[in-house]
Amino acid sequence: MRKPFIAANWKMNKTISETQEFIRKFIPEVKDSSDVTIAIAPPFTSLPAAAAMIKDTGIILAAQNLFYEEKGAYTGEISPLMLVDIGCTYVIIGHSERRQYFHETDDTVNKKIKAAKKAGLGVIFCMGESLEEREAGKTFEILQRETEKGLEGVDPESIVIAYEPIWAIGTGKTATTEQAQEAHAYIREKLRVSYGNKADELCIIYGGSITPDNVDSIMACRDVDGALVGGASLKFESFSRIVNFRR
Ligand code: PGA
Repeated sequence: MRKPFIAANWKMNKTISETQEFIRKFIPEVKDSSDVTIAIAPPFTSLPAAAAMIKDTGIILAAQNLFYEEKGAYTGEISPLMLVDIGCTYVIIGHSERRQYFHETDDTVNKKIKAAKKAGLGVIFCMGESLEEREAGKTFEILQRETEKGLEGVDPESIVIAYEPIWAIGTGKTATTEQAQEAHAYIREKLRVSYGNKADELCIIYGGSITPDNVDSIMACRDVDGALVGGASLKFESFSRIVNFRR
């Protein structure tokens, strides 16, 4: 039985005081949600404040990125050990915005996943096709490549896969339940090739314009085990409703 995993990806949003205000209001809303794993990924600057507030609540603190070296002359970068030091237990890797705007390749993503795991961090590993790729019938090809290359040489412990069709991110256009289920089942089948029956224990979560209005139907899909939420995670009311989804 996979425990649902719901994560907030705040991207480049919220100052420290905005983070504190959100978390103060959010904690009481989720005190009875022990049957769901909840993660919050604020920007780096808000991590210490968030860590102090969610300590002892069971909410996971996640970072949105890391660099794969442990330390050294890499101006502007943050290492896995620094994230552990600050209280993170998970990190988002391979988000399409990182791939698109910061030119991260499958190889970079694989190095980052390995570095995160080496430091003891769990990983929310994102993948998904663009609209062009979907329309060209290449969705499965992309998912196969991203799964194989991203996870090459990686053991599956504490890996959460996030299927995020790029055309659904921040666009208000969600994948249909059929499209989501089909992609998730395909990814699980690919994971089975490398990990055997362990693939059935891995959470594959959906991301892309999740809202309080569509979360229940997406979560009803057999192979959808949670959600990675951008825009709708910025308001505590809507993220609380998403975390308290109804199956
Ligand atoms: P969205 O973003 O919910 O705003 O579409 C999801 C994501 O990019 O993780």
